[in-house]
Amino acid sequence: MNIPDIIIAIDGYSSTGKSSFAKVIAKEFSFLYLDSGALYRGVTLFAIENGFISDDNTIDVPELTSAMNGLDLHFGPQGTYIGERCIEKEIRGLAVAGKVSPIATVPQVRAFVDSKLREFGKKKRIVMDGRDIGTTVFPQAELKIFMTADPMVRAQRRAAEMPGASIEDVLKNLEERDYIDSHREVSPLTQAEDAVVLDNSDMTMQDQVEWLKALISERFSINQ
Ligand code: CDP
Repeated sequence: MNIPDIIIAIDGYSSTGKSSFAKVIAKEFSFLYLDSGALYRGVTLFAIENGFISDDNTIDVPELTSAMNGLDLHFGPQGTYIGERCIEKEIRGLAVAGKVSPIATVPQVRAFVDSKLREFGKKKRIVMDGRDIGTTVFPQAELKIFMTADPMVRAQRRAAEMPGASIEDVLKNLEERDYIDSHREVSPLTQAEDAVVLDNSDMTMQDQVEWLKALISERFSINQ
């Protein structure tokens, strides 16, 4: 199938399988995949390790903002890096998950991540997932998908990726993040008006890919 040169924006609730879906699409269509959540997670790890966020999630915004000037956060061959150090494993744990949504409410953090994301958007043929990609980062994206799934299905999927984490703890974290992400002042998680909803509670990955291909064919008048 000939996929046009477009940006695909995938937003939605925590652990709805956005990044797994985006990675499969990127491979199938030869698009570049960009995980915006990984950058928020990277800033969060940086904030934890440097003492800019306390146990009760109080954030020292002036110190964090000034330190971000020297933060070399980027993608590399094994995922997300700070300088030469691959941080992929650390950013996926519950310690970072428990602090990332408060960190992502800070406008200076959002501006830092947005500027990195928009650099990538100068090219087409990218698929990016997050919370505000279709609404704020790339409102001009040609295709916007809003993903959702049953909370218990989401918690089970995510707990399976986190050895040692209980489903109850994971579910609690998902619900807390969804609440903070949907209620923050700057770029809250909302469905873009022109987004198409994908509820994948009962869908396999193959079902989702077929669904997307049908959508693209219809939208861009392509014969499959
Ligand atoms: O994969 P998962 O659903 O667990 O989340 P993620 O995409 O890794 O994002 C982690 C957190 O970063 C989210 O819960 C949001 O608080 C924040 N985030 C955001 O605010 N805006 C984005 N575009 C992406 C992530």
